[in-house]
Amino acid sequence: MSKDSDIPGKPPATGLSRGLTNYGDAGFSLFLRKAFIKGAGYTDEALGRTVVGIIDTGSAYNPCHGNARELVEAVSRGVMLAGGLPVRFPTISLHESFSHPTSMYLRNLMSMDTEEMIRAQPMDSVVMIGGCDKTVPAQLMGAASADVPAIQLVTGSMLTGSHEGTRVGACTDCRRYWARYRAGEIDEATIAGVNDKLVPSVGTCSVMGTASSMAIVTEALGMSLPGSASPPAVTADRIRAAERTGTAAVALGTSKITPSQVITPKSVENALRALLAIGGSTNAVIHLTAVAGRLGIPVDLARLDALGRETPVLVDLKPSGSFYMEDFDAAGGVPALLRELKPLLHLDALTVTGRTLGEEIEASGPGFPQEVIRPMANPIYPQGGIAVLRGNLAPGGAIIKQSAADPRLMRHEGRAVVFEDAADLAARIDRDDLDVTADDMLVLKRIGPKGAPGMPEAGLLPIPKKLARAGVKDMVRISDGRMSGTAAGTIVLHVTPEAAVGGPLAYVRNGDRIRLDVPARRFDLLVDEAEMARRRADAPVTSPTAPRGYRKLFLDSVTQADLGVDFDFLRPPAP
Ligand code: FES
Repeated sequence: MSKDSDIPGKPPATGLSRGLTNYGDAGFSLFLRKAFIKGAGYTDEALGRTVVGIIDTGSAYNPCHGNARELVEAVSRGVMLAGGLPVRFPTISLHESFSHPTSMYLRNLMSMDTEEMIRAQPMDSVVMIGGCDKTVPAQLMGAASADVPAIQLVTGSMLTGSHEGTRVGACTDCRRYWARYRAGEIDEATIAGVNDKLVPSVGTCSVMGTASSMAIVTEALGMSLPGSASPPAVTADRIRAAERTGTAAVALGTSKITPSQVITPKSVENALRALLAIGGSTNAVIHLTAVAGRLGIPVDLARLDALGRETPVLVDLKPSGSFYMEDFDAAGGVPALLRELKPLLHLDALTVTGRTLGEEIEASGPGFPQEVIRPMANPIYPQGGIAVLRGNLAPGGAIIKQSAADPRLMRHEGRAVVFEDAADLAARIDRDDLDVTADDMLVLKRIGPKGAPGMPEAGLLPIPKKLARAGVKDMVRISDGRMSGTAAGTIVLHVTPEAAVGGPLAYVRNGDRIRLDVPARRFDLLVDEAEMARRRADAPVTSPTAPRGYRKLFLDSVTQADLGVDFDFLRPPAP
């Protein structure tokens, strides 16, 4: 159990007595605290209950959390039904499309806000309401570090829409229609019409993007209630999940099960299995690495790849498959998935309910016929969605979402067409005189953790316009950045170390040859070491920094992708 300051001679602090403000007299601190909160109309009876903090990340800038008010209300109801006292409080909220330069730049800041507000304020347990891509990772990271009993509630996915009879959803279809528009296949009026239909309700992206992946992974990790990952945002099931989460949070405040008891090497491996089996977002690898890293649990890329070789993709959702999150929910959600994965899981891993994952799978019943979550004998893809690559271009590793890539390009050698940074890409990618063919490999530098900064989701380089117009749909694209979980293509990501700190990627030149061999897990620049040494000596790389503020903190402290892009000082000291 985590315990802050107590009144000397009294039992361990609970409820409002936890974490007293330091006035040099603990009794007076509690007296003062009660006096202030009574100004809001609370009685002593209410203030004596188990206190459940509820993190409200509702924001008009965050439509993915557009149901936060209803969820807070339902969680509060669940808390009170169980005899607890709900106390709502705000933290930073991040939406993908409203965060400059990228939400990943702010994830660690949100995790610090979450950690410190959980630690600073008195609560026996906390319900963290999040959903949009970086919010759930930030909350799990903060909760892991604060180590106060915590339970995650996701806002739930948005509904799907319909454009002229075609079912559409964010954001795989956003990218698909935009690619068609760039290629001249659809006109201005059509793309404007699609824009109205892609996001038909509040909630998180409706495909297996990062938000859906993290929701599922969190349930497999044991940090949210069984069955709570998948109900869409605007459904009665989502509200019921919130009420149940509130009730469970009161029990958690009593059982005092902390995140460090739930997030263990076994539960992290269960989460990675789930991620591989859903064809989930590559971003979730970074986020899980950061969450586990807060508790000193390493996520080893070699182990991830080994898990991937024996964990097939079972969930038929875009971008790897064809369905959407509401279909996954109707098919039984995470309990149905974990039932199929059962032989591969650590069933003795503890969850926030106080029961093990195995007990929860048993309690979820036998399932029913459906076509979204496949049995192990009939997978969507024979291996896990994500493969780990090694080679002289990525000594610290790189990854590829093989389940969403073009099988023809899994073994490919080509000429590098290099863009030095995002501005260079924007300036030249669509020029008619760009020297590029469909067999080349597009290389984008300096979009890694320090390079952009914040490792933006710019790894899905657009197909050069002249090739797109000629019908080219996919090419090998390589960067030290990330890619939205909703995207598809033969995209090599997270090349580590990044170009901005002098990784080998910094020294790739136009015309170099690169060999990609996904089955062999190799990724090599076909340039000899003597030439690479010459290039390093000719143009040494200076790591970026900033004069002040959060940007300075970020650039001075952020780690590479293999450590989760967390700040080095937020990870526990090495043993
Ligand atoms: Fe929020 Fe996709 S933009 S989940």
